[in-house]
Amino acid sequence: MCGIVGYLGHRQAVPVLLQGLERLEYRGYDSAGIAVIDSSGLKITKSAGRLTELKARLNGHLDGATLGIGHTRWATHGRPTDTNAHPHPDCSGRFAVVHNGIIENYQELRQWLKAEGHTFLSETDTEVLAHLVEHYYRGDLLQAVMAMLPHVKGSYAVAVIGKDHPREIVGVRYDSPLIVGLGREETFLASDIPALLPYTKNTYILDNGEVAYLSPEGPRILDGTGHLKQKQVFHVSWDLEAAEKGGYPHFMLKEIHEQPRALRDTLAGRLDPASGRVKLDGVRLTPEEAKAIRKVALIACGTASYAGMVAKYVWEKLLRLPVEFDVASELRYRQPLMDEGTLGLVISQSGETADTLAGLREARRLGARILAVTNVVGSSVAREADDVLYTWAGPEIAVASTKAYLTQVAAVYLLALYLGTARGEAPWAAELARELSVTPSKVEEVLALEDRFRELAARIAPHEHAFFLGRGLDYAVALEGALKLKEISYLHAEACPAGELKHGPLALIEDGTPVVALVTQEELVEKMLSNIREVKARGAWVLALALEGNRAVAAEADCVLYLPRLHNLLTPLVSVVPLQLLAYYTAAARGCSVDKPRNLAKSVTVE
Ligand code: G6P
Repeated sequence: MCGIVGYLGHRQAVPVLLQGLERLEYRGYDSAGIAVIDSSGLKITKSAGRLTELKARLNGHLDGATLGIGHTRWATHGRPTDTNAHPHPDCSGRFAVVHNGIIENYQELRQWLKAEGHTFLSETDTEVLAHLVEHYYRGDLLQAVMAMLPHVKGSYAVAVIGKDHPREIVGVRYDSPLIVGLGREETFLASDIPALLPYTKNTYILDNGEVAYLSPEGPRILDGTGHLKQKQVFHVSWDLEAAEKGGYPHFMLKEIHEQPRALRDTLAGRLDPASGRVKLDGVRLTPEEAKAIRKVALIACGTASYAGMVAKYVWEKLLRLPVEFDVASELRYRQPLMDEGTLGLVISQSGETADTLAGLREARRLGARILAVTNVVGSSVAREADDVLYTWAGPEIAVASTKAYLTQVAAVYLLALYLGTARGEAPWAAELARELSVTPSKVEEVLALEDRFRELAARIAPHEHAFFLGRGLDYAVALEGALKLKEISYLHAEACPAGELKHGPLALIEDGTPVVALVTQEELVEKMLSNIREVKARGAWVLALALEGNRAVAAEADCVLYLPRLHNLLTPLVSVVPLQLLAYYTAAARGCSVDKPRNLAKSVTVE
């Protein structure tokens, strides 16, 4: 996830672009850059690091320009370096491109363009776009961009400028947002509305496949075949703060709703549902190395560790490999048993958590190979691991993790497919891959039930305790559900393997105590129904989460939320979503600080 901006008008472009980028920093901030055209040609300035680095580098240069594009980056392909920062030029330096999204077929395009004689400077997927424009350019910038589009697969919001077109910007959009801001004799482009708000509240929201051609005559919106489209002006009525959150009251809710997109991006270009094969760029275990693994040791903290617990259930079942579950702060001090036959599975959203890093180093010292799943390109975890699988959740702002968790769990399945195929023991691969590929739309189905969670949260909010029950994979998700609730609503929430109830937690059940029972595991339904009866007999109020068609549970629980049916091993990708919404609406009902809960931090870089 990145932010892009563009400006064409009568003002000085640089301050407009920088202010826009500042407002889009929530979309990523590991590097930034701008390209402008002034009387002496096309100039690009870019820098790794926050916007302040770029500002220092610009230091008043380029002040004469009144047209330009800019970018703030959240690295996906290639580390956050000066060279990998956008805008990217073509070989001739005549064009500059900024891009938000992922070009899935960039490797094929790169090879082809190299064979055509193009020289690449960066490790990014984006750079192919600059060379494609160069390749198709015949004197008309708009036509060159239009000619390039049929060859590009993936998601993109792109802005392109050309040295010989000092009063034109071309923007295109597919699956990544792009908005045109309509001013008086000036036009803006941006990934999101906050970047436009100081200048205009009148916008065109581009639809997939649309092209925006900006010139002094005003913006023209075209379809993919070049036909002019009549767009409705969308007038923004929100204030700036609400706009940054995309109109949502909190980042957490926005991030919950971004999950189908985050999941799609994390699977995109990696999963072949037909064969069950996966292509994971940064994971380089050979079949021999994969076969030599004798056990897996999880190294993670908090929510990331609960994503790892999904690996324990899924990998043990599918790969028949033991997965040791531990939180990193415990693992590092218990003299863990690891050697060259151990795969250290490090999971970390930030890639900077102190205990996780210490666990990684301890595992490496003992001889383990380190496979990391992280959301931050170039983070410490990514740099120190042998193999890296990036989750493409985009920046997560709310302290309580949601979309990062979901993409970590998706990574667990991608890695199961990778390791299973490499070890030559994956008759289940094609079915799992096929079902995995449709999970984003199942998440969308659950999100559509949002209003129900608001009502149910009102039922939980007045209490001081809540319990989450589950067995097998449902227990792994119950842990995450309880963590979400306690983190942001300050309610005491406890997850319990349902079979353990009678060994303690049952003593805490009173009249009205809320109990959330996860009942998605087919072979454990009967057992869960007994556990629901046990808590009901002590007065609990039971909300059950079950798969569509499970009528038996309705006879036992006070309320049942039905989830779309899916492969029994994939249920965490869907069943966690109601728990996130429940935690969110409970915290909101209790008037808590949802995005920044007391005493907690997003990234814990101290032991
Ligand atoms: C903090 C955050 C959690 C996160 C945990 C691990 O506690 O509040 O949301 O799960 O750290 O962070 P990591 O960045 O390593 O995933």
